Amino acid sequence: MDGATGMKVEREQGKMKTEQGGIVVLDFGGQYTQLIARRVREQQVFSAILPCTTALEEIRKLEPAGIILSGGPSSVYDKDAPKCNPAVLAMGIPVLGICYGMQWISKTLDGRVEPVERREYGPAQLDLEQTESEILANFPRTMRIWASHGDNVLALPSGFHLTAKTANAIAAAEDPKRKIYAVQFHPEVNHTERGTEILRNFLFKVCKAEPKWSGAAFIEESVEAIRQKVGAHRAICGLSGGVDSTVAAVLVQRAMGDRLTNIFVNTGLLRKNEFEHTLEMYRERLGLRVIGVDASKRFLKKLKGVADPEQKRKIIGREFIAAFAEEAEKLQKGEAHGDIKFLVQGTLYPDVIESVSVKGPSATIKSHHNVGGLPKKMPFVLVEPLRDLFKDEVRKIGKDLGLPEEILVKHPFPGPGLAVRLLGEITVESLVKLRESDAIVTEEIRRAGLYEKVWQAFAVLLPVRSVGVMGDGRTYGLTVAVRVVQSDDAMTADWVRLPGEVLERISTRIVNEVPGVTRVVYDVSSKPPSTIEWE
Ligand code: XMP
Repeated sequence: MDGATGMKVEREQGKMKTEQGGIVVLDFGGQYTQLIARRVREQQVFSAILPCTTALEEIRKLEPAGIILSGGPSSVYDKDAPKCNPAVLAMGIPVLGICYGMQWISKTLDGRVEPVERREYGPAQLDLEQTESEILANFPRTMRIWASHGDNVLALPSGFHLTAKTANAIAAAEDPKRKIYAVQFHPEVNHTERGTEILRNFLFKVCKAEPKWSGAAFIEESVEAIRQKVGAHRAICGLSGGVDSTVAAVLVQRAMGDRLTNIFVNTGLLRKNEFEHTLEMYRERLGLRVIGVDASKRFLKKLKGVADPEQKRKIIGREFIAAFAEEAEKLQKGEAHGDIKFLVQGTLYPDVIESVSVKGPSATIKSHHNVGGLPKKMPFVLVEPLRDLFKDEVRKIGKDLGLPEEILVKHPFPGPGLAVRLLGEITVESLVKLRESDAIVTEEIRRAGLYEKVWQAFAVLLPVRSVGVMGDGRTYGLTVAVRVVQSDDAMTADWVRLPGEVLERISTRIVNEVPGVTRVVYDVSSKPPSTIEWE
């Protein structure tokens, strides 16, 4: 049982045919661990991230063709330096150690690793040695690579030979007999020239992995697995209007048809026309069976007089679960006659990894968004068909499932909705101002052909009044901040240098078309230190 939700969580990882013969990435806590796993999947080979401490039997269960040991922030000499079971190196499965992974291999076998005073970070030049190397075969004599390491390997373990170095350090080595390979730099980052080729050589030449991880195969196997799991029972799913829950619902619907009922709650905090428009898309274009619940009044009532952001989030989370649970209960007591056994969620792989990684549980699981925390009297079994996928893979699966483009390219939207973009107390009037301003930002960003190119573009309503003039009169109106950011994963983000004409159109239209707003400012802060949302 998962303590937080009171629900039984069943792990299904590693059971599908296309997942066998993939790569296990053992995580030493490196910042690029997820990137390694994604790079492997881009080659159509499944990859699973497991903590470095995972037992050998667990690793064997996945029947991997190869193991990659990730980088990590520690020194192998740290008191609590993360470790794998050394037997990982003797399983007869090829191993590639990256950065810390290389240092751990060297120290664990009989090599010598030395702490250095200054961490080497950033670009460096790689010089190839004239030796045979399976993973660096036919590479140029020198290459640009990306380094980030604290320790240096001074002497290689027996059986290894040097294949490349940088000015300061041993950069790559291998023991082809034992099929252990090690690089001191990061082939998974774009700054490393031919990094993908290094990974491909490891996957296909050394591990002899098969490129069979594809969208079509995933859909087919998932649909079959869901059918097996749910049998003749019924399921419910909470839809948020975003791509994850939509893809999850469409996939499950393929497996069980109308025995899946979806619930889409209008919190009153969605964007302009979003509830009606999305509901229609779900029903008309995707053929989903959806109950639309307009709970906007109850949300606004509960939020009355609340200005504190954390308080707002808590209230919204609680109300959302209550509204969802009430509908589910009505269904269970009514037409479904107690037959709803399953709850579908659009949980993604990063959420799963974050809770098992060596770094320990992360605080970023969005329980409200994922409809976690349902009351204990509703003990559904979870169906999480996307829990092995990264976001970009979900989009691809959505495309293969024939989802409309508009949902595939839709910008991320926070679970608490416009509440976190409306600073201070939420009122019906301020929501109208924010919604109208936000619609103008989106329209103009689309008109400029930028919607698909940026991560998010939205308006924030500030409770800041300033003096202005309009016609002959003096005004004292509110301020809208416009936020447009570029990002790959929302962990970091940069503000977008919008063309002046686009900013001008947005500003002019908001001031002219949204009564009560007299000033527009553009947010030029990046994350970190700022966040994407304002609350
Ligand atoms: P921040 O503001 O932390 O946002 O830089 C990172 C990304 O997460 C989205 N976000 C949320 N999503 N529930 C969600 O489902 C939330 O409470 C929430 N807060 C922020 C945000 O839009 C951005 O894409």
